[in-house]
Amino acid sequence: MYRNIIDYSVETTVLHYDYKIIYINKSGADFFRTSKEALMDVDVLSVFQPSSREMIKKRIQECMAGNEMAPSIEEKVIRADGTTVETELYCRPVTFGDRKVIQTVFRDISIRKETEKILNNREKLASIGQIAAGIAHEVKNPLTAVKGFLQLLKESHSHPYLQTMEIELDKALLTMQNLLQVSKPDLQEEPLVSIDFCKELESLMLLFQDKLYNVEVEMDLRDRETRVIGKKNLFLKAFFNLIKNALEAISEKGKIRITHYCENQWVHIQITDTGVGIPKEKLNMLGTPFFSSKMDGTGLGLTQVYTTIHEHGGHISVDSKCGEGTTFYIRLPVAG
Ligand SMILES: Nc1ncnc2c1ncn2[C@@H]1O[C@H](COP(=O)(O)OP(=O)(O)OP(=O)(O)O)[C@@H](O)[C@H]1O
Ligand SMILES: [Mg+2]
Repeated sequence: MYRNIIDYSVETTVLHYDYKIIYINKSGADFFRTSKEALMDVDVLSVFQPSSREMIKKRIQECMAGNEMAPSIEEKVIRADGTTVETELYCRPVTFGDRKVIQTVFRDISIRKETEKILNNREKLASIGQIAAGIAHEVKNPLTAVKGFLQLLKESHSHPYLQTMEIELDKALLTMQNLLQVSKPDLQEEPLVSIDFCKELESLMLLFQDKLYNVEVEMDLRDRETRVIGKKNLFLKAFFNLIKNALEAISEKGKIRITHYCENQWVHIQITDTGVGIPKEKLNMLGTPFFSSKMDGTGLGLTQVYTTIHEHGGHISVDSKCGEGTTFYIRLPVAG
């Protein structure tokens, strides 16, 4: 009966003796992406990364010496096809036939880990946004005061530098104003309205007509009747920023594809370009204020995009390959 329960369990269950696998259930073989037969007699330590093997060996020895279940641990496991997966491990001694052996259960926690990562990144972005907005606010006030005195000075004295000073000051004030706007979209007092994204995306594309002679645009807009509730101007700005980035990523000829569809109560919008792509090590910088690889970029475009999507309970992720292109995946809750 025990064997039956384990055989049909959805969790990867392995029995091993003297570090050799003597039994694995069907789910386990699927999990390791191979067959049950191929795993027989395999060294159980070999599924762990080399740096963890000594620690796992000690754990198995301790488990074998006692009768208790060992506290669970999290470890990366290597599958037959060479891919790795985050798992949570439970091991305990059991009797199999007339032998005392170790039963190890592997639970796939990759989705949980991925979610934790997304949440951490979101919190990180939110707190960077808060700090940036705080600094912008503090710096803006004294700069405005300086601008006032500069104007007074200009009235009583004339000096060629005064004009330059005012121009530079205006640039600084504009940066502060932009930063404040993009990192605190909740300050924008805009009413919530029902948004028809298919219509809005089509209108937005018209704004880029003059830049489209070398770029082919493909719009695949399905489920046109779906609506999202939100601040329309913020969204228009966000999608403008995304399309602008996609266009700027294409140096000569290229293609931009915009898709819209509804699935499981989410509106999915994807923007794909065949542009330069983003290096892997830069991907987690996206959304951070002032991160830009462009000569004249402010690096605030994606900050505005990320904050807007998150403020509306949505998700955004990106997939990119250098030299091939980039896709931004956006998911927003459908209006109930
Ligand atoms: N579609 C894309 N393809 C390639 N790189 C991109 C893409 N979108 C964003 N990036 C990268 O992310 C950086 C940050 O983008 P963001 O829109 O925040 O700022 P920016 O475009 O540099 O400046 P601004 O939006 O103020 O003009 C860009 O400089 C670029 O390196
Ligand atoms: Mg941009």
